[in-house]
Amino acid sequence: MQPLEQSEASLPVQSQPVSPRAPIGVNAAIQASRDATVIPRPRILDESSLKDRVGVVTGGHRGLGLEMALVLCELEARAVYCFDLPAEPSEEWESTQQYVRRMNNGSRLEYVSPDGRANGRLHRRCRDCETVGGEGCLECPATEFQEVLDVDTCGVFLTAQAAGRQMVRFGNPGSIILIASIAGNVAMKGEFLVAYKTSKSAVLQMSRSIACELADKGIRVNTVSPGFFRSPMTKATFDRSPDVLRRWSEGSPIGRFARPDELRGVIAWLASDASSFCTGSDIIVDGGYRVW
Ligand SMILES: NC(=O)c1ccc[n+]([C@@H]2O[C@H](COP(=O)([O-])OP(=O)(O)OC[C@H]3O[C@@H](n4cnc5c(N)ncnc54)[C@H](O)[C@@H]3O)[C@@H](O)[C@H]2O)c1
Repeated sequence: MQPLEQSEASLPVQSQPVSPRAPIGVNAAIQASRDATVIPRPRILDESSLKDRVGVVTGGHRGLGLEMALVLCELEARAVYCFDLPAEPSEEWESTQQYVRRMNNGSRLEYVSPDGRANGRLHRRCRDCETVGGEGCLECPATEFQEVLDVDTCGVFLTAQAAGRQMVRFGNPGSIILIASIAGNVAMKGEFLVAYKTSKSAVLQMSRSIACELADKGIRVNTVSPGFFRSPMTKATFDRSPDVLRRWSEGSPIGRFARPDELRGVIAWLASDASSFCTGSDIIVDGGYRVW
């Protein structure tokens, strides 16, 4: 083994990009020790700021999507656009918009719905997807399998592609966060959801692939894999099968369902410069479901 100094000396010299928030961390401490005009103060929250950035959240009308949209507004994104299917936003969405307005931090929440024809078609597809659930792999009809992949994989790809194109067009790189699931990571004992699990696994690999292609453009791409969160989607499942609530709660060491707001921290981190060296990663937020 070489002495430390020698091995360090043999490392190739690489240019290090300067943080747009510099000076931060220990560098800030060193500068403060040499220069009395550098005032020590916490900088970690500055690193999470999305000031002057724009956010787009597909599925931002309700559930986890709306929660994510709100956190981007709290981090001072200039505007956050929620793309979703209903022609008009719900009361819950409007209350959230009001809340953002009253925060008065320069951010705003907007709602965008596709045109009527596409709307109806997408709605039907989504309803179809929501009803796919208890079907075993030997019974799952080809059409249902294709519908789930169409919305949950192809739709995600086209959204990421559209976001990436805009970032390149405006020369303004950013962070793309794709929502996968623990259902894409493990087979989940006793849950027969072959189409959904396949679609989410595909999202994981899609994210790694896009991350490699876009890294040199400064665009970062990561996935979040939630475990079991309370949302209108999971509520529909409990209503059909109350036993699922108990089974899924007991499935993790933490032993309960997550609140939608328990995704806020990870979204804040991935969306902002605080995660500037993170791309192609999957962040699992599952109460420990996968560990036993
Ligand atoms: N809730 C959970 O426990 C959980 C766990 C793992 C992964 N996820 C994933 O998180 C995401 C959000 O889940 P949720 O529980 O909030 O679901 P949800 O059904 O409550 O909300 C999904 C939203 O997406 C919208 N949507 C559906 N298809 C769309 C399309 N083609 N274009 C635009 N909007 C569309 C719906 O109208 C709805 O507002 C999903 O990708 C889901 O698979 C959720």
